[in-house]
Amino acid sequence: MSEETVCRAGPSLALIKYWGKSVKGDNLPATPSLAVTLGGVHTETRAAVAGEHDAMTVDGAAQDPARYSFFFDTLRHTLGITARFRAASVNSFPTSAGLASSSSGFAALTGACARAAGCDPSAADLSAMARAGSASAARSVFGGFVLLPAGARRARQVCGPEHWPDLRIVVAVTHRAPKPVPSRRAMEETRATSPYYFSWIKESAELLPEALRALETRDLELLGETARRSYSLMHGAILGARPPLLYWLPATVAVIHACAAMRTAGVGAWETIDAGPQVKILCLTRDVEAIVARVGSLGSGIQTLICRPGPGLQYGPEPANPPDTVAPNPPDTVAR
Ligand code: DP6
Repeated sequence: MSEETVCRAGPSLALIKYWGKSVKGDNLPATPSLAVTLGGVHTETRAAVAGEHDAMTVDGAAQDPARYSFFFDTLRHTLGITARFRAASVNSFPTSAGLASSSSGFAALTGACARAAGCDPSAADLSAMARAGSASAARSVFGGFVLLPAGARRARQVCGPEHWPDLRIVVAVTHRAPKPVPSRRAMEETRATSPYYFSWIKESAELLPEALRALETRDLELLGETARRSYSLMHGAILGARPPLLYWLPATVAVIHACAAMRTAGVGAWETIDAGPQVKILCLTRDVEAIVARVGSLGSGIQTLICRPGPGLQYGPEPANPPDTVAPNPPDTVAR
């Protein structure tokens, strides 16, 4: 058995969503996606070269080897090795909270396994290997703001977390149970059966330049409106699938309406929603308190987490007092 290596990655929150694959089975995205890697929450993975079979646990639970075989085979092929791995991932956030744990999970697993095998691949190669696990994981390898173009094998960083130090993401956790349909299956059903799928692909490509411009100029209103359009179109396409699929719960809809009311009242709160019932709200530091209070007042046991643009892959265990990589603005992450 090799020495154990440790790698951490933050979840990748898409502002422009990836939904649909251009090549089934190879995780090549049909849409471009632009995401922010979240700081304040992470997956930490420990890996070692060991045994004759790959073995993986997440938060202590053994995982189905079938879900990981393509990933491990791609990793071995890319690194030119034959090693098998024993790996254990732990999420610092609720795994079932719809916080893109597969993006941070496969990114951290890629970094930990590569190091455990004695390899030091480039970030671009790490991104391509992580994509074999989950396309969104290709983005989590990088910190800050990250682009995965349509059809791309690897993601690339657009700008680091320091580009927008006062950007915050308030995550409204509306429900903790695992989602009814995994995103991989839902996106394939959308591709195969939704009459809106091709409109979704076309519109997504058109949203990207707008989002990149908003990011470059730190125009939160433009970025927020573009992100709202992206998730609305994605969920519209999902609703058009056969059978139709609705990930939203009453509390999800309540948060959407609360964001609209806050914007009308001058509080900058722009929501986005992934394949689940949670709502992620883009805002600036100055509005965090008002947003957390408003979401808390909705009742229904909604919890909030506060995240910021975070770093890419980090090696070694988390320091006891992690340095504030972005801005001296506590609290980094709070659960209420
Ligand atoms: C809604 O990356 O989990 O979060 O590539 O099949 O593993 P696979 O899917 P995954 O899907 C993420 C979908 C999304 C949008 C996004 O992160 O861009």
